[in-house]
Amino acid sequence: MQYSLTFPTGTVRYIFQAGFGELKDYMDFDNYVMLVDSRIVELNNGLVSKHPHIIIHAHESRKTWAQVSDICEQLLQLKADRNTTLIGIGGGITTDITGFVASIYMRGVPFGFIPTTLLAMCDAAIGGKNGINHQLQKNLIGTVQQPAFIFYDTIFLNTLPPEQWSNGFAEIIKYACLFDRALFDELEQNDITHYRNHPETLQLLIERCVDWKNNVVMSDEKESGRRKLLNFGHTAGHAIETLHQVPHGYAVAAGMMIAAKISEHETNLDPQVTERLKKLLQRYGLPVSLDIDTGKVMEVLNMDKKRNSTGIDYILLNNIGEAAIKHLPFPTITQALETYAHAGSH
Ligand code: GLY
Repeated sequence: MQYSLTFPTGTVRYIFQAGFGELKDYMDFDNYVMLVDSRIVELNNGLVSKHPHIIIHAHESRKTWAQVSDICEQLLQLKADRNTTLIGIGGGITTDITGFVASIYMRGVPFGFIPTTLLAMCDAAIGGKNGINHQLQKNLIGTVQQPAFIFYDTIFLNTLPPEQWSNGFAEIIKYACLFDRALFDELEQNDITHYRNHPETLQLLIERCVDWKNNVVMSDEKESGRRKLLNFGHTAGHAIETLHQVPHGYAVAAGMMIAAKISEHETNLDPQVTERLKKLLQRYGLPVSLDIDTGKVMEVLNMDKKRNSTGIDYILLNNIGEAAIKHLPFPTITQALETYAHAGSH
């Protein structure tokens, strides 16, 4: 299945249920360089050895200017020019770095993604934000530019480590909490093993998440309003991830529990919903509380690019599938973190 969607910063062609071996059939260009996650190369060197490629070290600590500069040098050596398409193959770190390099190399070259993790397929490869980390904050430096295509081959999921499956499900649970009560119910009935054993159900799940993300991004690509909803679990989550080096989805899971607990107070969320969320996160192998240093988390939140002088627009829930944006002053957030940082263990 294929379709194209037009955003303010570009038209994206979504290609689903495709095979990597048929990639050439979908490409209307022959001048390209692949930027490939080293894990993918280690698993199957033959996959990209015939293609011009650069290896990406896909670790948060390497999502840096140093790696960007190194990639630009390798692109020059490969004689990449303004007509060269960069193809990012890997998880969210690889697609983020690829999109960022493509946005600045020679003032911008075309690019596309082949996401290889569940998290990248459902979330990170979609949306047009591309960036690198600053030591004080994740994704502080970046651009908004849509890829020309996103190519889905779920065969890559066959070698995905268990931790990465849970990581992806954190974002899937996020969409269910924000927009899709029926999806929440479905997830409660299933588990990771079920989706792994039913590729067609998994395919539908991925396409449903792609639809949710695009639905929001199309209405607000630059995140001035509705797109902020996608930050559910991410406000505290990003700070926790920056400070405690836990996988993204794990930090988001703990962040969603904190947000649900705050919602009980701020938007009268039924505590039974928080309990269902906790059980659902645990069902998908995710932590519901992390041992965090509240003071340090607040220091990071104080530098959050989404803050203003008085506080942060926090994403809360009224109910499953019904989200709310509420501006919370910093003292309220500090107090909430102190009270709920271990929300899952209460
Ligand atoms: N590339 C991730 C996003 O735009 O949300």
